[in-house]
Amino acid sequence: MTVNIKNIEDIKKMRVAGKLASEVLDYITDFVKPNISTEELDRLCHEYMVNIQKTIPAPLNYTPPGHTPYPKSICTSVNNQICHGIPGEKILKKGDIINIDITVIKNGYHGDTSRMFCIGEPSIQAKRLCKITYESMWLGIKQVKPGNFLGDIGFVIQNHAEQNGFSVVREFCGHGIGKVFHEDPQVLHYGKPGQGLKLEAGMVFTIEPMINAGKKDIKMLPDGWTVVTKDRSLSAQWEHTILVTENSYEVMTLSAGTPSPF
Ligand code: MF3
Ligand code: CO
Ligand code: CO
Repeated sequence: MTVNIKNIEDIKKMRVAGKLASEVLDYITDFVKPNISTEELDRLCHEYMVNIQKTIPAPLNYTPPGHTPYPKSICTSVNNQICHGIPGEKILKKGDIINIDITVIKNGYHGDTSRMFCIGEPSIQAKRLCKITYESMWLGIKQVKPGNFLGDIGFVIQNHAEQNGFSVVREFCGHGIGKVFHEDPQVLHYGKPGQGLKLEAGMVFTIEPMINAGKKDIKMLPDGWTVVTKDRSLSAQWEHTILVTENSYEVMTLSAGTPSPF
């Protein structure tokens, strides 16, 4: 495993890409309401990225080994969908929860961030799942500093999720990011303190825990992308792109509408 260390020029460009990704979420927020379809959310985001921001939607036609090309510009994962939900005819209704995951490319660099949205007033359990997942992401972020380990991040995320009766998805993880969408290291959302890679200033990776209300097991839908909970329980996810600084961390995916830290 080779983890690429970003220099100041890389970091400047990643700040720009990260902010732009977050601004797509700011833009789409007012549209995430009952009666809109997920393909309409995709269309609006696509137009905003391509025409207003002049960014490239990284998911569109993204083809990792063993996959068919991803057909849309954003990921929309509703209720029991864990991640990589493909926007389509599904109409959002009161009580739904949805993760919208945005990755843009600007000047050759990626910014990757996602948020949860509630449609109308979801159940107490759904709101609690979104909140605990948000807190888990932030507890993980706060572990980021030189000398700490990836296992420290995974441990606090897993601990907070499981203490609240939820489970951590194992098959998908955070990832290094830069000129490449998904690069080393893999950032697991479970683990043990002091284990795994030691963090160094200049590393950039995402933290993006997927937390299920029920069991951790997953199922892949026949579309080859959409990942759902095997027991059909709700799932939530939040994501930021993080830089390891000399003393701590910097969240690279910040914008005016970013929810405040936990
Ligand atoms: N944005 C996702 C992540 O956080 C990856 C989406 S890949 C896609 O890593 F092809 F599904 F869009
Ligand atoms: Co990511
Ligand atoms: Co993402």
